[in-house]
Amino acid sequence: MKNILFYDAKDYEKPWFDKYNQGAYSFDYIESKLDKRTVALAKGYDGICIFVNDEANAAVVQKLKSYGIGLIALRCSGYNNVDVAEAQKCGIAVERVAAYSPHSVAEHAMALLLTLNRKIHKAYIRTRDFNFSLNHLIGFDLHGKTAGVIGTGKIGKTFVKICQGFGMDTLCYDIAPDESGALKYVDLDTLFAQSDVISLHCPLTKDTYHVIDQSALLKMKKGCILINTSRGALIDSEALLNSLLSGRLGGACLDVYEEEAMLFYEDNSATGVQDELLSLIVSRPNVIVTSHQAYLTHEALDDIARITLQNFDGFFAKK
Ligand code: NAI
Repeated sequence: MKNILFYDAKDYEKPWFDKYNQGAYSFDYIESKLDKRTVALAKGYDGICIFVNDEANAAVVQKLKSYGIGLIALRCSGYNNVDVAEAQKCGIAVERVAAYSPHSVAEHAMALLLTLNRKIHKAYIRTRDFNFSLNHLIGFDLHGKTAGVIGTGKIGKTFVKICQGFGMDTLCYDIAPDESGALKYVDLDTLFAQSDVISLHCPLTKDTYHVIDQSALLKMKKGCILINTSRGALIDSEALLNSLLSGRLGGACLDVYEEEAMLFYEDNSATGVQDELLSLIVSRPNVIVTSHQAYLTHEALDDIARITLQNFDGFFAKK
């Protein structure tokens, strides 16, 4: 029996992993995130399973090696939080769930857009209080507008199809464009200048870090709505706030935030947060923040658990 330690484990995800465990593994789930302080908890395990806000930097990876751990399994698709080069050097395998329900994330991006544009979040609160006024609830038709999609992999392509279903035109940008001819690619500046809505679906890499900075925001149409369901650090949050304050950006739908690691997935309602920038962004009337929940559907959780278990099997069978 192989022993696997799950860092940053939440009650709502455990049943999916237990469902696919046929008895070959013993799982321990802990709430702590992986970092230099908690890495010692991995001693004695055969592998660890981590999520988006665990941090496997070079120092952590070296510690894992010293404990004889051979596997870091990410139960997510992005792997910007793992020093993969260091893991390779240390002979530690890094596995991830490269593909799971792209619909979960793409549909959440559209849900955020519809909510923000049609002010559903405000209407919901008003009508619960029997306030049936429509003041300040005007949105715009998506039909006939242009959606700019940055990153046209599995999720980006799915989002394009959803937008087309709404009668939107779509413009795309990707460093490796899809060759089927089905998507219309333009350079980034054209995408910024012509899009009414821009949605980010590329991974966080050194090239995409702050791809949305002050200069990008200035190139966007006035009133453009920006959606980020990928990784927080694609956007320079300070520049985002300034653009919102100036009235240039029409709104922001954010499922991720660059400093989310110690905040998201936790209930901070009793204490508030010390992050002044996040507090200011969240308080803007034209911003919706969700807590990195775009993947959270039954289908995605099932895929993630099934593929993670396949990854364990492959690793321990030395495939
Ligand atoms: P994918 O690998 O299928 O597609 C990523 C696309 O981005 C590829 O076409 C790639 O060529 C493109 N790309 C890479 N570098 C680029 C650059 N510099 N500029 C423009 N495009 C670039 O990945 P998938 O499955 O579509 O996921 C996209 C991202 O969504 C992930 O990297 C992850 O960060 C995020 N994600 C967020 C989730 C959430 O719950 N909020 C859940 C799952 C993924």
